[in-house]
Amino acid sequence: MDLKEKVAIVTGAGQGIGRGIALRLAEFGANVVLLDIRQDTIDEVAEEIRSKGVEALPLQVDVTRSERLRHMARQVMAEFGQIDILVNNAGITGRTVPMVELNEQDWDQVMDLNLKAVFLCCQAVLGYMIERRYGKIVNVASIAGKEGNPTLVPYSVSKAGVICLTKALAKEVTDYQINVNCVSPAVIQTPILDGMASSTVDYMISKIPMGRVGKPEEVAAVVHFLASDDAGFVTGQCYDVSGGRATY
Ligand SMILES: NC(=O)c1ccc[n+]([C@@H]2O[C@H](COP(=O)([O-])OP(=O)(O)OC[C@H]3O[C@@H](n4cnc5c(N)ncnc54)[C@H](O)[C@@H]3O)[C@@H](O)[C@H]2O)c1
Repeated sequence: MDLKEKVAIVTGAGQGIGRGIALRLAEFGANVVLLDIRQDTIDEVAEEIRSKGVEALPLQVDVTRSERLRHMARQVMAEFGQIDILVNNAGITGRTVPMVELNEQDWDQVMDLNLKAVFLCCQAVLGYMIERRYGKIVNVASIAGKEGNPTLVPYSVSKAGVICLTKALAKEVTDYQINVNCVSPAVIQTPILDGMASSTVDYMISKIPMGRVGKPEEVAAVVHFLASDDAGFVTGQCYDVSGGRATY
């Protein structure tokens, strides 16, 4: 699971699970490109990463913007000469209300970031990975994408889409030694929970057999495995980090 000399891009790396993933990959030797809409948080994570003796490049990027993503990929290639790992982590829940109360904008906002941006980020780096015949893509889906959570209809649908994007893309790129996998966490203690209705959070926790919320580090450990060469024969899969919640 050594990542020395590897170059990893992590989206939504300023806080929560993305921060945990960025720190974990750096701890195992990867140089990390941190993408987020907030510059202040990725600057802080970059400092932490540099203290581990590897390089960090914090870039303020809205991952829903395709042109900005293409520019980012060119920038990373100019700086490091390679892109080995992409972790698509940035995501939002949207408003946690019943579907009848949602409007079109609620739907579009969640889909744009949680699903379309995963497609755009993959597209931005795939050409480089194919050329080098090497790549590891790990998408952060959610148990909501397998089970479907009430008051989280657009979110659940977007994450189901991420799981299927993972499976479909994985089969397209097997000839290029590119592995594409995803993780589906249940409730993880991060700031994302602050914006959700407490009844929704309580519902989700009540469904976890282990009876507790997870930690960003626990998701990061699984992402690390999937981003490493130790997972060389693993592709198109969805790994649960859910305290046993998944029913399939
Ligand atoms: N926390 C949970 O319980 C949980 C459970 C399952 C899945 N997830 C998924 O894990 C991922 C991370 O969640 P989290 O809990 O760490 O969330 P979080 O809200 O704590 O962090 C999300 C990060 O993404 C950034 N971001 C938001 N919009 C962006 C954009 N357009 N471009 C770039 N960056 C953007 C934010 O600034 C923030 O730093 C999400 O995809 C989420 O759906 C979280």
